Amino acid sequence: MTTALATDHHAADHAAAEARSVELDRRVRLDPGRFRMLTGDRPTGPLHLGHYFGTVHNRVRLQNLGVDLFVIVADYQVLTDRDVADRLTEHVEGLVLDYLAAGVAPDRATVFAHSAVPALNQLMLPFLSLVSTAELGRNPTVKDEIAHSRQSAVSGLMFTYPVHQAADILFCKANLVPVGRDQQPHVELTRTVARRFNERYAPAGQPVFPEPEMLLSAAPLLLGTDGGKMSKSRGNAIPLAADADETARLIKGARTDTERRISYDPVGRPEVSSLVLLAALCQDRDPHQVAAEAGDGGSAGLKRIVTEAVNEHLAPLRARRAEYARDRGLVRQILRTGNERANAVAEATLVDVRAAMRMDY
Ligand code: TRP
Repeated sequence: MTTALATDHHAADHAAAEARSVELDRRVRLDPGRFRMLTGDRPTGPLHLGHYFGTVHNRVRLQNLGVDLFVIVADYQVLTDRDVADRLTEHVEGLVLDYLAAGVAPDRATVFAHSAVPALNQLMLPFLSLVSTAELGRNPTVKDEIAHSRQSAVSGLMFTYPVHQAADILFCKANLVPVGRDQQPHVELTRTVARRFNERYAPAGQPVFPEPEMLLSAAPLLLGTDGGKMSKSRGNAIPLAADADETARLIKGARTDTERRISYDPVGRPEVSSLVLLAALCQDRDPHQVAAEAGDGGSAGLKRIVTEAVNEHLAPLRARRAEYARDRGLVRQILRTGNERANAVAEATLVDVRAAMRMDY
C-alpha cells in the first residue's frame, strides 16, 4: 500500500469513528444507565486545560448524566516510556485531586490505580495469548511512542501495554471508553481481545466481555502558550491547579499575532484561534461569537476576555480543590476506597474468566 492510500484509509477511519461517536453520544444521553465507562491517565504530572477540555470535562458530564464512571490512574503505564517512575506518589495523589476538583464524585465514581488491583493484572496473561506479536508490532500509537521514547531500549512492557490497557477496560466490563484519537488503536485491540476471548471460551450467546465502544472527544485541540501542542513536558501548559493570578499571567504571555481584528480561523491564525476557543469552551459558546465580541480589541483585549472566562469557569473547581486539599488524608482515603471497589469487581470478573477457561479448580 502506498503512503497516500494509507493516509486516505486513516482519514476515512477517523471520519467513521467520529460519526459513530456522535451517534453513540446520542444513545448515551437517551439511556445513561446502560453504560459503564472506563478511562484514565498516566500519572506523570499535573493535568492542564488541554486534558481538562479534551477529556476530563466530558467524563464529569457523562457521570452527571448517570453513566457509571471508572477512572484509572495508570501507574504501571508510566513505566512504558521512561525507566523510572519519578515522584510517583505525588503524581498519583495530585491526579486524584485534579479529578476531584474537576467534579469526579467519589460517592458515584470509582477512582483507582491499576497496580492496586491484582485480578485486573492477571487478565493480562490470557489476553496476551489472544494477540500475535505481529499485531502488537503494527500498533501506530506504540510505534510513535517507541520513536519518541525516553528509554534506551524497547521494553516488553512498552510493546505489550495495549494488552494491559485491554485488561484495564475489560476487568470491569466497561462498554464505553471516552478517549482521544491516539487511543483508538488500543480500543480496537480491546474489542479484538473481547471478541476472541468470547469466541474461544464463552458459551454461545453468553459472552463474558462486552466489546466496548470508543467515544471520541468532541473538543478540538487547545494549543499551548507557545503555539505548539499543549503539553506539560514542553512547559507551555496552563495547569488546572493554577490559581487565578497565575492563570492570568500565563494567558498574558501566550503567543498571538499583531492583527487587531480578532477572528476564529484555526488554520490561518492558530494561536489567536486557540485562545478564542478556550474562552468559547469555558462559556459553552460558539467560538465565532466570541471572536465577534472581541472585535477590534487586539490580542490584549482578547486575553482579558479569555482570562475572565477561564477564571470564572474554574472558580467552582478551585473551591472544590481547596476543600479536598485541606485534608491530604482524604484524597488517599478516596483512592483506597476506589481500589477496594475495583478489586471486588476484578475478582468477580476473574472468577468468570477462570470458569470460562475451565481453570476453576
Ligand atoms: N493510555 C492512556 C493515556 O496514555 C491511559 C490509559 C491507561 C487508559 N489505561 C486506560 C485510557 C484505559 C483509557 C482506558 O492517556
